[in-house]
Amino acid sequence: MSIAKLLDMFPMNRQHARSLYRHFSKKILRNNGIGHYEPSIIYSKEDATSTIELIDLMADAVKIAAHTNLGCGKLNLPDSQFLNVFPGEHYRLLNAIVRASESKKIVEIGTATGLSALAMQESVPDVSVITYDIFEWDKFPTHFDKTDLDGIRMKQVIGNLSGDVFFKQNFNVLNNADIIFMDAPKDDIFEYKMAQKLSTLTRKEFRLLIIDDIQFVNMIDFWRSIESPKIDMTSFGHWSGTGVVDISDGLRYRDYIN
Ligand SMILES: C[S@@+](CC[C@H](N)C(=O)[O-])C[C@H]1O[C@@H](n2cnc3c(N)ncnc32)[C@H](O)[C@@H]1O
Repeated sequence: MSIAKLLDMFPMNRQHARSLYRHFSKKILRNNGIGHYEPSIIYSKEDATSTIELIDLMADAVKIAAHTNLGCGKLNLPDSQFLNVFPGEHYRLLNAIVRASESKKIVEIGTATGLSALAMQESVPDVSVITYDIFEWDKFPTHFDKTDLDGIRMKQVIGNLSGDVFFKQNFNVLNNADIIFMDAPKDDIFEYKMAQKLSTLTRKEFRLLIIDDIQFVNMIDFWRSIESPKIDMTSFGHWSGTGVVDISDGLRYRDYIN
């Protein structure tokens, strides 16, 4: 009996299928001596729309990123080895999108070590980054110095934006942001809750949503559910997927969590 027929005999939900897929994907390549890899899916994109403005902006950002060397953070922390990996990691692209779009108000969801927050600020005058996490910055091996978090150019706010009350309290911060970079739990729940909340933002001349890890298996449905103009920038962003969405009109998405 083939493995496929054998597997068909067992009732399998999405969670089981994902776990088997992850297991078997490790056996697919001839050479899997790769630093870090994850199973994903390739799929056609005829139902995704972009705009010429978004494509032009990303083309400008890619050029800037190619010619930029970042120097932020602390060399002795493990993730600093990824700062200037380009293409492959997202730090140079994030910095370049801020510069190409002349964005001044950045919101990050998911601070961790602070490397992406610092990257979005490097060499950008008059920029402010408000970075949210559920844990305080000094609970991580951090790239921040106390002086970085001056409350003007950089501020951390603790809380879960997917909660109704906390989102309401912070609505204006998100509504006024030029760029929102969402790099939080990717647990198949948080992102959908955020989508519903981001759909309530009011119209603004320019506002981008940048989403990390859009090629993770549990992020593909979410990325595909987005109907606002968008572009997959993975080739010049994070190897695990970087998506950029124009949410000047708020976020439009199809809700198919189930
Ligand atoms: C992948 S790390 C962020 C990495 C960072 N943006 C970078 O590129 O250097 C994800 C972070 O999201 C935080 N997180 C998890 N759930 C969250 C939530 N509901 N709201 C805000 N942050 C959350 C985690 O504590 C963790 O610090």
